[in-house]
Amino acid sequence: MNYNFNQLLQLSSKKTRLIIGLMSGTSLDGLDIALCKFEGAGSDTKIEVIHFETIPFNHFFKKEVQSIFSKKMVDLEKVCLLNAWIGSEHAQMINDCLIKWSIKNENVDLIASHGQTIYHAPKHLHQLPEFGNATLQIGDGDHIAVKTGILTMSDFRQKHIAAGGEGAPLAVYGDYILFSKKNENRILLNIGGIANFTFLPGNLNANEMFSTDTGPGNTLMDAYVQQNFEGMSYDKEAVFAKQGNINKELLFELEQHEFFNAPLPKTTGPELFNIEYLNNALKRTNNVHLSNYDVMATLNKFTANTISTAIQKSMHTNNFVVYSSGGGMHNPLMMEHLQNDFPNIHFKTTEELNIHPDAKEAVLFAVLANEALCGGGTNFGKGIPNVSMGKISFPR
Ligand SMILES: Nc1ncnc2c1ncn2[C@@H]1O[C@H](COP(=O)(O)OP(=O)(O)OP(=O)(O)O)[C@@H](O)[C@H]1O
Ligand SMILES: [Mg+2]
Repeated sequence: MNYNFNQLLQLSSKKTRLIIGLMSGTSLDGLDIALCKFEGAGSDTKIEVIHFETIPFNHFFKKEVQSIFSKKMVDLEKVCLLNAWIGSEHAQMINDCLIKWSIKNENVDLIASHGQTIYHAPKHLHQLPEFGNATLQIGDGDHIAVKTGILTMSDFRQKHIAAGGEGAPLAVYGDYILFSKKNENRILLNIGGIANFTFLPGNLNANEMFSTDTGPGNTLMDAYVQQNFEGMSYDKEAVFAKQGNINKELLFELEQHEFFNAPLPKTTGPELFNIEYLNNALKRTNNVHLSNYDVMATLNKFTANTISTAIQKSMHTNNFVVYSSGGGMHNPLMMEHLQNDFPNIHFKTTEELNIHPDAKEAVLFAVLANEALCGGGTNFGKGIPNVSMGKISFPR
């Protein structure tokens, strides 16, 4: 048998596995690196997050990714170059982290790499009848595997599309495996660039579970800050939004999009929710005069409203607990809006489930890799493609 396959076989039968989960979302803030220790798979999964760090992207990295990110027309040569380069850069960030954590590369069993999304095009976005759902993550896994010397799984989303999904949200798999709890209805809410949630019923009936994007998370607020507040990349602690007033007309216009009325589950991205989306809404208000702070206050409320409305529309009970994660949960004003929309609901964070809220998405990709390697027996219920995801890159 080829050396690589022999290694793979041995790994799948190891009692415990060290898996690095990687996440770099649409916010382009940094690479989340979570080193996790796994035992078991499926509903028997035991996980411990041993180390977690977000490595911020430098200006050059951000600029290069932004040159092709969520744009319809790009330099194809740049896409080709960045596919290899991002893989290699991510590998370097992992190698640096492992040195910092005093962990030898050879002691890590597997890397689960999400890659960098450069375009997400579900059917409802592109509306071309000849084509189906599509998404593209780059930063090829072969470069990570060779440069770190660690077996790597990557490109998790294509299989989900091939099996009938939109390639997102994939959080539902890990959420169900790690966080399902008998007798507690749970909503796992992640507010990254885009916001999404998973409903985990307390009766543990997988057929009642569902997951969906709700619309923008931080993406519109980030884009507006980057355009209008020099040197800033996001509204830290909502200091800008707190200085403005919510404008009802703009709020109304922002909420006018068929995405919000489309049935669940649905997915989206900055291809739709971007500065142009805001500018079009502003135009429809006949350009009422607003300060930058007013726009921020309105975008903040809009984001919270889209999350609340999606939850209200899909939940048939008021008996649930929300566990938040992702950068948006650090936005105090948005969390206040959400709490006001659900005065009787407990808002907690995934910290209470032993997973650092900033690490959660990276951890969930490590779970997908663990499942691909040793799981496969879990029934995720109807409507959720039951497939094992991730492509394998051998280090040699
Ligand atoms: N202290 C804070 N105050 C306000 N907003 C914050 C704070 N910390 C982080 N954020 C927001 O969180 C964003 C980063 O979130 P996160 O890393 O979860 O998103 P992501 O990388 O796009 O991942 P995902 O794939 O989950 O969408 C930042 O761009 C910022 O908008
Ligand atoms: Mg991030």
